[in-house]
Amino acid sequence: VSLRPYNTFGFDVRARYFVSITSVEQLQELLRDPQWEALPKWILGDGSNVLLTQDVNALVIQIAIKGIEQVREDTQHVWLRAGAGESWHQFVLYCVENEFAGVENLSLIPGTVGAAPMQNIGAYGVEIKDVFEELEAVEIATGTIQIFDGPACAFGYRESVFKRSMKDRYIITSVTLRLQKIPDFHVTYGDIQKTLEAMDIRELSLRAVSDAVIQIRQSKLPDPAQIGNAGSFFKNPEIPRAAFEVLKAQYPNLPGYPVNGEIVKVPAGWLIEQAGWKGHREGSVGVHDRQALVLVHYGTGAGQQIKALAYKIQNSVEDKFGIQLSPEVNFM
Ligand code: EPU
Repeated sequence: VSLRPYNTFGFDVRARYFVSITSVEQLQELLRDPQWEALPKWILGDGSNVLLTQDVNALVIQIAIKGIEQVREDTQHVWLRAGAGESWHQFVLYCVENEFAGVENLSLIPGTVGAAPMQNIGAYGVEIKDVFEELEAVEIATGTIQIFDGPACAFGYRESVFKRSMKDRYIITSVTLRLQKIPDFHVTYGDIQKTLEAMDIRELSLRAVSDAVIQIRQSKLPDPAQIGNAGSFFKNPEIPRAAFEVLKAQYPNLPGYPVNGEIVKVPAGWLIEQAGWKGHREGSVGVHDRQALVLVHYGTGAGQQIKALAYKIQNSVEDKFGIQLSPEVNFM
């Protein structure tokens, strides 16, 4: 089976076996079937955060479990449970339409609901951990269902337990989020305010914030349907304050966001642009010309070329700034 339609970079690698799953029971049956026991399993949502560099000798399991239901409410909140295979952005639009607040800043993030907690998706000052209640996952080894609450997920910046100690051990099947009936808008981050003004929006609403975020993202980030990409390729590095001050003296324009008293987060996009990579193209791959943090595939290349380009960028940023970039995208 070609995985080309199943990764937003659009790389044409093959999977030995492929199955699409639409219910938890079906998944449990599959995992308990002795026929597949010995084979490595590889879980796929929309493939929007993965770099495929070679054929996959595994059973690829696409999670297509759908459905959004309200499971609880009180005077201030509603709790929604969504199937892991729901599109994240469709879920956000559902919330915006129903006036459930909390995820509007996360509009237009590619990928599925099930993949969202894995890397604690975030944008414009909000992360999924801020609205997270719990998730349901199936243990790959046994097929048993387990519930993870927020602390059990150990969320960090683009991190969770599912990328660390529980890596490759669980398949997320549904996610429950706690939305607010009365919005608490987050519009101070980045260009949101400016964009709202440019759109001539005077009264804040979930719809207005969502529309502004969509407009910003569309202006900077390439649409995977047109140019293959997986969003930010690297994480924004966190460096000691002292190191930041030294660099700032040398590069007065260096942006930095304090994480706490000792740590400053620096935008990788800025570092990559300053190292001269923005808009760079090598054959079928390159660096996006409006956001240097996004690596792009123009259509006829291979994952290895992105990997090679990523190494070159890492080396060049390290030589110039002494900062190591780590990938945000998962290498397969
Ligand atoms: N910048 C440059 N040159 C560039 C790109 C960025 O100088 O080519 C500078 C900008 O001028 C700005 C700063 O870097 O001062 C930050 O840029 P931006 O607001 O575009 O966000 P980012 O830090 O590059 C992060 C997330 C995005 C998220 C945005 C908005 C990570 C790895 N990326 O990007 O998430 O949408 O903030 O909140 O944290 C993703 O994870 O795939 C993703 C797109």
